[in-house]
Amino acid sequence: MNPVLQVIHDRKSIRAYEDRPVLPEVRDQLLQATLRAPTAGNMMLYSILDITDQAVKDTLARTCDNQPFIARAPLVLLFLADYQRWLDYYQASGIDALCRERGQPMRQAGEGELFLACCDALIAAQTSVLAAESLGLGSCYIGDIMENYETHRDLLGLPRFVFPVALVCFGYPTRAQLERERTSRYERKFIVFENHYRRLERADFAEMFREFEARAEAQKDKIEGFVSAAQLQYDHKFNADFSREMTRSVQANLRAWRGEAA
Ligand SMILES: Cc1cc2nc3c(=O)[nH]c(=O)nc-3n(C[C@H](O)[C@H](O)[C@H](O)COP(=O)(O)O)c2cc1C
Repeated sequence: MNPVLQVIHDRKSIRAYEDRPVLPEVRDQLLQATLRAPTAGNMMLYSILDITDQAVKDTLARTCDNQPFIARAPLVLLFLADYQRWLDYYQASGIDALCRERGQPMRQAGEGELFLACCDALIAAQTSVLAAESLGLGSCYIGDIMENYETHRDLLGLPRFVFPVALVCFGYPTRAQLERERTSRYERKFIVFENHYRRLERADFAEMFREFEARAEAQKDKIEGFVSAAQLQYDHKFNADFSREMTRSVQANLRAWRGEAA
């Protein structure tokens, strides 16, 4: 396997870190690689917040669904979808005045621009994750950054056209983490289709989720109210409070992005 594929294959999420700082030269290499990520129109529609303030890390550990390892990560980067910079540039360059002369309001960023900026931010985030792995650093995404929109906006000073899409924790893995097995993946035939989307059916699910269901069944005596693996996933993830909060928070963020009253 070539070294790039090796890095991709070896990576796993790391949630426990050695008490060892990420030196400035390592952080620089990581950021340099990150900023080489492909970006729509070469516009770099993202910003990165390097969270160095321990009090902010402590808050994020709480507001991102109570995940204490966030506070213990030596490097925490927040990837923001960012259209604010380009809109501010247009404004600073007199585009609003130009639009007025043309008898049109200056266009604001819509949902399309938000999705494109999210693509940019996530591609940069994943580039940082792979760069980190190649530097011996473990990483873990925190999707819960999309929760508690109002708290995160105020805590981090996020303006209207900035959307926090991924928080990533980095640090040197503990020995136990290094020795831990990687998680498995669903079979390729259920994920990769040719030309046309294929909706999966009952028989596919039986095969696709065989291992997932066997793992849940093996634990069922320890789980109160266990009905099935699907029920467990539904109750504890999909229909959990944090998932509902994420949707509420994203809706509030979208309303703010659209300029609608709160
Ligand atoms: C968008 C996204 C959000 C995630 N959020 C969290 C999170 O909040 N907490 C966490 O511990 N892991 C989080 N993860 C890590 C996943 O749980 C992990 O990638 C998955 O279980 C597969 O394991 P692996 O990364 O070790 O291969 C997230 C991953 C992604 C891609």
